[in-house]
Amino acid sequence: MNNQDIIQKLTTEHTAARDELIFLLDNLTDSDREALRKAAQATARTQFGNRIFIRGLIELSSVCKNDCYYCGLRRSNQNAVRYRLTPEQILSCCEQGYALGFRTFVLQGGEDGYFTDAVMTAIVRSIKQAYPDCAVTLSLGERGEASFQRLREAGADRYLLRHETADAAHYARLHPATMRAEERQRQLFALKRLGFQTGAGFMVGSPYQTTANLADDLLFLQRLQPQMCGIGPFIPHKDTPFRDRPAGSLELTLTLLSVIRLMHPQILLPATTALGTIHPKGREMGILHGANVVMPNLSPEEHRKDYSLYDNKICTGDEAAACIRCLAARMRGIGYQIVTDRGDYPDR
Ligand code: 5AD
Ligand code: FES
Repeated sequence: MNNQDIIQKLTTEHTAARDELIFLLDNLTDSDREALRKAAQATARTQFGNRIFIRGLIELSSVCKNDCYYCGLRRSNQNAVRYRLTPEQILSCCEQGYALGFRTFVLQGGEDGYFTDAVMTAIVRSIKQAYPDCAVTLSLGERGEASFQRLREAGADRYLLRHETADAAHYARLHPATMRAEERQRQLFALKRLGFQTGAGFMVGSPYQTTANLADDLLFLQRLQPQMCGIGPFIPHKDTPFRDRPAGSLELTLTLLSVIRLMHPQILLPATTALGTIHPKGREMGILHGANVVMPNLSPEEHRKDYSLYDNKICTGDEAAACIRCLAARMRGIGYQIVTDRGDYPDR
């Protein structure tokens, strides 16, 4: 086994065996990283040209009933400032976003009991009614199949639910016992069955993560075949049990973006805010390693800093219009172009 052959196989067959993935990740040379980057960038170019899709992220609630050890919004964090947007505030974010060229709105929040199915379906319906040419993506955690179905019937197009780590034992070291890897994965398959364009994903460099865990994350993606995948480096938050853990590495995150692009040529793959947080050019590098989506923040400025998943999150002080200008310039700077488009999975 050698890495050149494995990279070749990833590029042409879009797959690799578990032991090959582990070997590759354990023995990466600079020239391997470069080969992966080139192949992934070429694959993304073939699929999407120089077009980059944008998603307007609306962080609708910082309230969460969960207690994930890595996340600043965990319920045990007494220092977290909790807020909820009203339906009117959410609609007004969409109005601003639409004018700025967004055709996908991502409603993301903690698992907040206030946003019942009745409340959420009403919000989804009013967005779809006001902006029938837009996609609505939800990212609201585990709500169960019955809830997902109601949201789907209300018109939601996509759902993001990172699997966080495919390995049950690793998952148990990142979450309290009330949360289970099997349940998370079951809900992801339910989302796909219900016809959502479904997004999974994981953090790179989360505490206790091994290369075998990462290989299993990649293999989980191969089983699920999600339309989207969000990955970014773990970044410690000062008010969590993982405050003293090191952040995930830029290089490994970039390499995994490339591997995911090669294994899933058409996947919608964001260069995440977390990637932009650990390096000033992180999102640009993400695009150059095969990502094709960016997700600027449309949340009301007064709440930005309170949606604090990890420390030093970027763009918390910038208004949406400034962010989109900034990102457009950044993408132009590396030869890419932000487009006004729903940016659906190419198969649809
Ligand atoms: N560092 C990086 N990513 C994080 N997330 C939550 N906390 C952190 C952190 N400390 C990610 C999780 C979650 C998504 C919304 O943000 O993967 O699914
Ligand atoms: Fe927000 Fe650059 S993308 S300021």
